[in-house]
Amino acid sequence: MFDLLVIGGGPGGYLAAERAARAGLRVALFEKENLGGVCLNEGCIPSKTLLQAAKTYTHALEADRYGVSVASASLDQAAVIRRKNKVVRTLVNGVKSKLQKAGVTVIAQEAQLLSVAPFTVAAGGQTYEGKAVILATGSSPAIPPIPGVRENLGKTVLTSREILDLTQVPKTLAVIGGGVIGLEMAAYYAAAGAKVTVVEMLSQVGGGMDNALSAFLQKSLEAKGIRILTGHRCLEIGPGRVTVQGPGTPQTLEAELVLLATGRRPNTQGLEALGVTLSKGAVVTDSQCRTNIPGLYAVGDVNGHHMLAHTAYREAEVAVATLLGKKDAMRYHANPAVIYTAPEVAWVGMTEENCRQKGTEYEAVTLSMRYSGRFVAENEGEDGLCKVIVDKKRRTVLGVHLLGSYAGEIIWGAAQMLELHLRVSEARQIIFPHPTVSEILREALWEFPDP
Ligand code: NAI
Repeated sequence: MFDLLVIGGGPGGYLAAERAARAGLRVALFEKENLGGVCLNEGCIPSKTLLQAAKTYTHALEADRYGVSVASASLDQAAVIRRKNKVVRTLVNGVKSKLQKAGVTVIAQEAQLLSVAPFTVAAGGQTYEGKAVILATGSSPAIPPIPGVRENLGKTVLTSREILDLTQVPKTLAVIGGGVIGLEMAAYYAAAGAKVTVVEMLSQVGGGMDNALSAFLQKSLEAKGIRILTGHRCLEIGPGRVTVQGPGTPQTLEAELVLLATGRRPNTQGLEALGVTLSKGAVVTDSQCRTNIPGLYAVGDVNGHHMLAHTAYREAEVAVATLLGKKDAMRYHANPAVIYTAPEVAWVGMTEENCRQKGTEYEAVTLSMRYSGRFVAENEGEDGLCKVIVDKKRRTVLGVHLLGSYAGEIIWGAAQMLELHLRVSEARQIIFPHPTVSEILREALWEFPDP
């Protein structure tokens, strides 16, 4: 009998297992593929490795802007993928050794939750019993019911999994969905030499991101040669082409390959039959990550809150703390998001749109990134944005939206302001290092009028 059975070895599962084992619990972790899950093997880390190659290549091509001459530069896609595989192997081994050190029993098998009172799990022809279970089964790419998708899936129609393993850059690529995955992969393959078209059915790219930043990002990506069709649906996918419909007549685009990036669905197979409450396809959890069944927790993408690895990490900690009888709770208001395109975008908290929808009275300040000395020094001919939103009455920081270099590295500082409910007057007292791009945030805070 184990104290805890963890199903799924992605960021939510492996961190939960490690934390629980370090606290002295007897823990078994089940993983059917690779430790590290989607994040490490076919998501966050592989995509960042590719995007770093694109950044390096672009720097070489644009070196003359900085007074440097580079005789020639080329991108070797097969070498990029080899390096990506090496990075993934290194990090997966890191997770493996962390779990080993913590004393977690790792079972490399597909697991199925058989019963919930008591908890039994079947894996590899054996059954395991546990006093508690953490579900961390993640999510899978959504496959939209577009005619032609099923027939061509895995051939010319790819998901985020296969697109990270291409050893040749396609001549033309159509990306269906202008969300996070769509934009990051469009940015990479455009930089690598493909002619990329993004087809997004909403009126803006980047999902829930701030409207002004979304418009700025769209323009920046278009300036890099990416064609972006917002307000367009994909009607049909055939070999070598896609048909899309915008406000006018349908048009057919050439597309050697098509990437489906229309969202992800939680992996919840078999749970409803055991009495686990689901809503919109995700396991329902409370702020302690507890499901409706005592002793059963769900962390990460499977609970559908925010499909982000860093959210899964924190949920894992909250679930384990609760299991250990400690007081802890999830707070989602200061959960940052990053899109690792060039330029990079990061945000935390409310957008102006959110404030209007909730009826929150707010004030917003938007500054050009060119107010930052380091940004100007390092980004010849480029610009970016920093928008800060504060509560009009309480003067607390409600949202921070950044577009420009290091945005993803700066945003946690802004998240801290939201987490601590800092007022503008308090946030202004923080000393920022100079010269850094982060100082743009301090500049923006000083633009608010004193009440
Ligand atoms: P997403 O929800 O971010 O974007 C999907 C987009 O596809 C939406 O804008 C939607 O309007 C559009 N769409 C849906 N059906 C469509 C259709 N038939 N035709 C045209 N457009 C259509 O989902 P995405 O990009 O697939 O990412 C999945 C998850 O992975 C997200 O929750 C995301 O947060 C996470 N992720 C996070 C990353 C990061 O933190 N940097 C990187 C990659 C993924």
